This record gives sequence, C-alpha cells and structure tokens, in this order.
Amino acid sequence: METRKDTMKLRSQQWFDNPDNPGMTALYLERYLNYGITREELQSGKPIIGIAQTGSDLSPCNRHHVELAKRVRDGIVAAGGICMEFPVHPIQETGKRPTAALDRNLAYLGLVEALYGYPLDGVVLTIGCDKTTPALLMAAATVNIPAIALSVGPMLNGWYRGERAGSGTAIWDARQKLAAEEINYEEFIDIAAASAPSVGYCNTMGTATTMNSLAEALGMQLPGSAAIPAPYRERGQISYETGRRIVEMVHEDLKPSDIMTRAAFENAIVANSAIGGSTNAPIHLNGVARHLDVELTNDDWQRLGHEIPLLVDLQPAGRFLGEDFHRAGGVPGVFAELIGAGKLPNPDALTVTGKSVAENYADAEVTDREVIRSFDAPLVEKAGFINLKGNLFDSAIMKTSVISPEFRDRYLSNPDDPDAFEGRAIVFDGPEDYHDRIDDPALEIDEHCILVVRGTGPIGYPGGAEVVNMQPPAALIKRGVHSMPCIGDGRQSGTSGSPSILNASPEAAAMGGLALLKTGDRVRVDLRVGSANILIDNAELAERRAALEAAGGFAFPEHQTPWQEIQRSMVDQFDKGMVLKPAVKYQ
Ligand code: FES
Ligand code: MG
Repeated sequence: METRKDTMKLRSQQWFDNPDNPGMTALYLERYLNYGITREELQSGKPIIGIAQTGSDLSPCNRHHVELAKRVRDGIVAAGGICMEFPVHPIQETGKRPTAALDRNLAYLGLVEALYGYPLDGVVLTIGCDKTTPALLMAAATVNIPAIALSVGPMLNGWYRGERAGSGTAIWDARQKLAAEEINYEEFIDIAAASAPSVGYCNTMGTATTMNSLAEALGMQLPGSAAIPAPYRERGQISYETGRRIVEMVHEDLKPSDIMTRAAFENAIVANSAIGGSTNAPIHLNGVARHLDVELTNDDWQRLGHEIPLLVDLQPAGRFLGEDFHRAGGVPGVFAELIGAGKLPNPDALTVTGKSVAENYADAEVTDREVIRSFDAPLVEKAGFINLKGNLFDSAIMKTSVISPEFRDRYLSNPDDPDAFEGRAIVFDGPEDYHDRIDDPALEIDEHCILVVRGTGPIGYPGGAEVVNMQPPAALIKRGVHSMPCIGDGRQSGTSGSPSILNASPEAAAMGGLALLKTGDRVRVDLRVGSANILIDNAELAERRAALEAAGGFAFPEHQTPWQEIQRSMVDQFDKGMVLKPAVKYQ
C-alpha cells in the first residue's frame, strides 16, 4: 500500500493532500469536488494528467482533438490516472488576423501558467495546426513536467477532377490560374474546398505535417503517431495509448528535458531534410531549444541538414499527400531509411517510450517506395536548407528541395561554375504594398528582377507574415514566367513550393540590411558560398543607415491590440526562434 510519503512525491498532492497546510488543502479540494470527483480520488496519489486542449470551433484543424480527448481520457484512467482537460488559447493558422504566428508565444505563456499553477503531474499536448505544436512544446520545455504530444493527424487526401488537391498547394496553383484567367472565382473556391475533405490538419508537407513529424522525431510522440490521418481508427487507438503512456511517464519521472536534448534536435534537423519540411521548422525548433537552454542555430540546420536527401514525395515538393505518407510508413519509415543509411546522428536518443529512437524503430519499414524513397535513390540529393548571410541580413533560410532542376544546375550544383544570381531589386513594404503595386507597369518588372518584401518580420508585421512567396506580375505569368526569386524578412507558408530566401534576420524593423535597400539596387546571391549582398559600397550603406535612423528608423504599422505591442517590445528575431526574450531564463 502506498504511504502518504509516496503520494507526496506527486506535485498534485501539494494542492490536494497537504496536512502541513490544511487550510489551503481544503480550499483547493472542495471546489474540485463540486462536479462529482471524490475526495478519495483526489487524495489517492493517482497522477493527475492534464489534457491541454487546442481544439475548438475556432480551431478547425485541431477540432478533432475534442473527440480524441475521450480516448486519451480512457487511456489515462486505464493506467490509473485522473484526467483534467483544459483549453489552450486558440491558434488557427488560416483564421487568425493578422497572423496566427502572433499567438504562438501567447499560447505558450498561457500554457506555462496553467501547467505551473494548477495541480497537474503530467500533460498530454494536443498538437496539430502549425503553431500549436511549437507553442505546446515550448511550454512543456519551460515547466518541465512529464509531457507527451499527440498529433490530431492530417486530413484525408483532397481530390479535384481526379487529381490530388493538397492543402495550400492547390490554392497557390489555382491562384495562378485565376490570375491568368484560366478559371473563374467559383471554380477557384471549389478547388480550395476540395483540398480540405475531412477533419485534421493540412494534408501536404506544410508546417503542420512538418512540425508533427518533428515532434515524433524529437521523441515527444509515440512512434508511428504523427502521420495517422485524423479520421482513421488508428488515430483513436494511438490516443488511448498516449493516455496510458503519460501516466507511466509520471511514475518514471520522464521529463521534456530528458528527451528534447541536443541529440534529439540534431535528429529532428536530419529528419526535416528527409521529409522536405517547412521553412518554419527552424524558427520553431530553435525556439523550443532556447526554452531548454539547448544551443541550436541556423548554421546547425545547414551543417547537419543540407547534405541529407529528400526521401518523401509529398506536395508541395512532390506528388502525394498525408494518407499516402501514412500508408507508406510515415515517420517510422523515414527513420528506418536514415538509420539504415547510418545518417541519423543520434539513434540512441531517448524518447517518450523510455526507449531510444533506434529501439522504437527497429522493426519499421517502408511499404511504398513511390512515396518514401530509399536513401540511395532519393527524390532530390542534398535537400536541406541553406543559411545565407551578407549585408542584407545575418541569416536567411532557403529550402533547396523546391528549387527547380534548371535553377539548381545553374546556381547550386556545379562547383566550377562561378554563376551567382544577380538582379534588380523590386522592394515592397509589406504585403499590402506588394498587392497594390505588383502589376504597376512603371516598375518594369522582368524575369531578371528579384522581388523583395520587408516589414514582414516578427516586429514589422507582428508575428511575421507568410508573404515572401510572391507571385510574378500577371503579365509575366501570362508569358509563362511562374516564379521569380523572392527575398524577405517574413515567412512563407510551408505549403508553398517557392524557392524563396526568407526568415531574414534581423528584419527591416530591427534595422537589418533590408531596411537600406531601394528599388533598382542590384542584389547578388551566391548559393554555393551562402552569401546575399546589396551591391553597394559600405560607405553608401552607412549613409543610408544614418539617414534612416535620423528619420526615426524603419516605419511599421501601429499596434492593433495590447498583445501586439507587448510582443513587439520583447520578441527575438526568427533565427533566434522568435521567442519572448524575458521568457528564456525560466527553466
Ligand atoms: Fe491548420 Fe494547415 S492551416 S494545419
Ligand atoms: Mg503556415
């Protein structure tokens, strides 16, 4: 029989069974009794497990978690725990104005307070839509109580007229057809709707599939959990197993800091290249790492990730969608390839199972070679990110897996070819300015230009806008020019296939080099040496900087809400994880 001393090891018993402070115990206890839970349960020494619920009517991507939580609850109870479900601030990627990225750090703060201030011994993190995953992992990192992530799973494959229609990607493609007047508004909306056929998150390899896959790669989800489509029976079953496992983790005192080590992040970077993951991943993983005091930079992403080939043939880089990825083997299949090729840096990294990555995936296999390629016959060689630097910025990311073969041959693959791409910069101050002026003939935009958008970083456009993948002027699209080089201090949707240079840090609003650029300046980007520069001498750049500072710095729009003002005053840049600077020291 358990003694009181044993039960006091659980932090929840400081609330519910603390004879040293009967007054507070009574206050805490009586109100949690009022909905029918018994004193016996609350003082039983059973672990109390939170379900951090991100699903709601405002968050359709994660809404299915409301259903799945029932199976999580069953698992918690079956393993001898008590469940307390509570809401997380909603983050809907496609619903929140001005951007859902604004709310990642707000949801983080709210969840830190809930986990720290309430009687919880462990927590199930219900992840899914883009920013929900990093927000919840960051909070678990800060409070560091036993935590396990549960993905809501991707939507079923979308289909339109016999072809796969993937989240986001179908819209980017259809938008071009609309601009070229090949389809009308009605058909445009029909295509968008067809790409979203069920509950779940984006079915492409966008930021959601990326971050859910990486939560498994980090060891924070049960093996095989990430890729199961939301409506599948296995999704409910893994929810039950997740509930069971978190109770055991509390007994084992297995904490986020034991799992999300430097070794785990290195594995995740390699996995990200192999899956063709989103350019939002470095922002979020660098952010999670900072809350654990793990050193992780964009140089690590290039050093560990660039050489890794693309194995997963999912849109936007490839052809298939989420159901196909699951059937082909999902994250376990990818890990089987990476481990088999000896390319996973740390197969012995610990996971939520209490076992290592190598143990978890010992029997994993790929069951469809069309969807998950072998390491020796990949879709694209060297498919990871490049980290560019120069007088335009200290760091900006380029996703090489989506570069066209011609562009790759010309600028990236041939080490003897001195070619760098150089062009006349066309500079836009934010997405509204881009939309107002992109078709202005006075700009004389041709295929030798580089489109630049600034004022779109964490401070300039609070949270950072997903706008760097700018489409060319309609006149050029009609001539068959479907993409142009783009540079920006904002982000790009993970569902976009554009080879943009983005997440530029520091941003223009923090007086990075982009703030000094003018339309007509020449910009030169050399992918092989990783440089990006304005071709103007330092003296003139210094003059421009002095003039801009004298004029009060780079202008950005007014705050619209209190949180926008608060976050802008303390947010770090994309390369540093866009974290709230004062939050990092709480570990
Ligand atoms: Fe929510 Fe893509 S918009 S997952
Ligand atoms: Mg997105």
